[in-house]
Amino acid sequence: MPNFDALEPAALRDPYSVKWNHYPDGVLPLWVADMDFPIAEEIKKAVLARLEFGVGYPFMGGDPRLLSAIIAQQEDYGLHGLEPQHLMLVSSVVPGLYASIQGLTAVGDEVITQTPIYPPFLTSVRDHGRVALENPMVVRDGRFEIDFEHLETLVSPKTKVLMICNPQNPTGRVFERAELEKLADFVLRHNLLVVTDELHAMLRLEGEHIPFASLSPEIAQRTITLTGPCKAFNTAGFGGGVMISHNTELLAQIQKATKGLMGHPNILSMEMWRVGLEECGTWLEQTLDYLRANRDFLSTWLEQHLPEVTCIPAEGTYLAWLDFNKFPFGSEVHKFLLEEAKVGLNDGPPYGALYQGWLRINFATSRAILTEALERIERCIRARVD
Ligand SMILES: Cc1ncc(COP(=O)(O)O)c(C=O)c1O
Repeated sequence: MPNFDALEPAALRDPYSVKWNHYPDGVLPLWVADMDFPIAEEIKKAVLARLEFGVGYPFMGGDPRLLSAIIAQQEDYGLHGLEPQHLMLVSSVVPGLYASIQGLTAVGDEVITQTPIYPPFLTSVRDHGRVALENPMVVRDGRFEIDFEHLETLVSPKTKVLMICNPQNPTGRVFERAELEKLADFVLRHNLLVVTDELHAMLRLEGEHIPFASLSPEIAQRTITLTGPCKAFNTAGFGGGVMISHNTELLAQIQKATKGLMGHPNILSMEMWRVGLEECGTWLEQTLDYLRANRDFLSTWLEQHLPEVTCIPAEGTYLAWLDFNKFPFGSEVHKFLLEEAKVGLNDGPPYGALYQGWLRINFATSRAILTEALERIERCIRARVD
């Protein structure tokens, strides 16, 4: 069993870690979505062994063993009928988001997504002259839900794509079948294409992962699914991702729009991903147990010590989306906590227009580091407002 309790900030601040070096020394960084935990021994061993063999050009379409492992994983989730030609490896998931938008839309087209949302969902649309329409989620019965009424008001003849993130970063929602079916109905009625980022699918703390493309053959024909190894196995520095679609014409359209720009698969990333899928089930279960306990600890701690902060426990991911708007800090909350509490979180506004006063916290760290960060936040806030 890995000892996730024994993390030392000094050791975590290795020179390659943006998470631990972005903010000044002394700040506890609970922001970018890396886990502070060491990677699985199986992955270390496999990557070292690969280096012994050599790292020449791989098959451009990807290692067939990796493609089989990805197809088997999707089968387990209930997405059937995939073959290697339905998979296009990409350098990582964000380039896959950008490529999908470029291939499937034209300048001026509209793309809808639920907010708050991982910022590249908005930038991949806006950076290239498309229009991102935000459908803010609503809190009902203590959880973030899709506002289907508002969704309908956003559509125009220029709307071409619905982007989905499931499990959702930053709210941690794992969408249920009924919610996804309502989205599928919306997509069919308005003749939209779908880009669904399911990168966090293996990081479920509750619930079942339902691939959007599995809802029906008609939906599969209009969906691009993106996923990769980096969230579950904590290997963001390796990169790696895949674009999946039963509709090879959509993949060809994307390939044409990005011809020559996407590079070729990275052999070490393919190897670690394959071994992750084939051999790291136990490591992942142990990691999920630790994350579940941290998630519960975080929400209980906030209820007891800072009940003004709204925290809806995540069903997936290791992120929580916290509302500090009951305090009078407004847009200063991120800066205030960074400079005075010495805790670095993600500020809300990049996640959508409505999210001033919200912060994203990454709870994939040791219980001791999480506790220290929360205590620092509490001390500073109480000193300011009490
Ligand atoms: C939903 C989502 N998509 C994509 C990414 C980034 O993926 P990659 O590093 O493979 O580009 C992240 C990173 O946190 C994410 O949360």
